[in-house]
Amino acid sequence: MHPKLHAHDLTRTFGPTHALGPLDLTVAPGEFVCVVGPSGCGKSTLLRIAAGLTRPSTGTLEIRTTSPRPAAMIFQDYGIYDWKTVLANVRFGLDVQKAPRKEANARAHDWLTRMGLADFAGAYPSALSGGMRQRVAIARALAVEPEILLMDEPFAALDAQLRTILQDELLALTQSTRTTTLFITHSLEEAIVLGDRVLVMSARPGRVIAERRPPFPRPRTGDIRSTPEFTHLKGELWDLLRGEVHQEAIPA
Ligand SMILES: Nc1ncnc2c1ncn2[C@@H]1O[C@H](COP(=O)(O)OP(=O)(O)OP(=O)(O)O)[C@@H](O)[C@H]1O
Ligand SMILES: [Mg+2]
Repeated sequence: MHPKLHAHDLTRTFGPTHALGPLDLTVAPGEFVCVVGPSGCGKSTLLRIAAGLTRPSTGTLEIRTTSPRPAAMIFQDYGIYDWKTVLANVRFGLDVQKAPRKEANARAHDWLTRMGLADFAGAYPSALSGGMRQRVAIARALAVEPEILLMDEPFAALDAQLRTILQDELLALTQSTRTTTLFITHSLEEAIVLGDRVLVMSARPGRVIAERRPPFPRPRTGDIRSTPEFTHLKGELWDLLRGEVHQEAIPA
């Protein structure tokens, strides 16, 4: 099967700063790949290149999709519109696609219900908690049924409990939709819970220095967090990462 995403010899420099690569990366259809790495190693740059928001300096990144709506991106700061209602936010991508209003409303409502936000369709984001806002962002991204979901530390701003809840929700969701996902995180725990593969990046310029497959068959649940295999893998990944972290500590 053709990969959904394929990067080859990818690099990016910003003036004198060699931010990323050379990096090779392949994501298979339906695969959930997590990327961890020290701050400033080029993770967001990689995702922005994948989303078409930044160009590579050298090398290639190809996204192979069959629909007109190939990729949806979710940012750490939610990126939802404060002046639009929750429903209008979730409908946004569908409006851009010029989906008929009735169908778009129905689909947006459906995703709001799945994210536990049905009662807030008419509310404005300012009335929502951080976790609810992030759920709106997730509903908006998934409502367009993207072939690839690109997520850049989507839960980083949330408290630990909420983060755990949303990890479990995303786990259940992507296991049912089988959406191909490239997910950046600082949290090793998050990477292990969610990922089919966890890639460890070096300090800048970021390259892939290691890859691990969490040994938990799907469908899995958040219960794997309390297994010895989980703790073992987390320790192993931390050892790999520790040598790469120069300035900033990475929270577990
Ligand atoms: N638009 C830009 N102009 C100049 N330098 C940039 C730009 N975007 C990123 N950089 C630099 O490229 C390097 C990689 O940045 P990037 O944001 O990709 O790192 P990151 O791995 O996402 O870090 P963090 O974990 O802190 O989010 C950094 O040195 C950053 O300063
Ligand atoms: Mg970043």
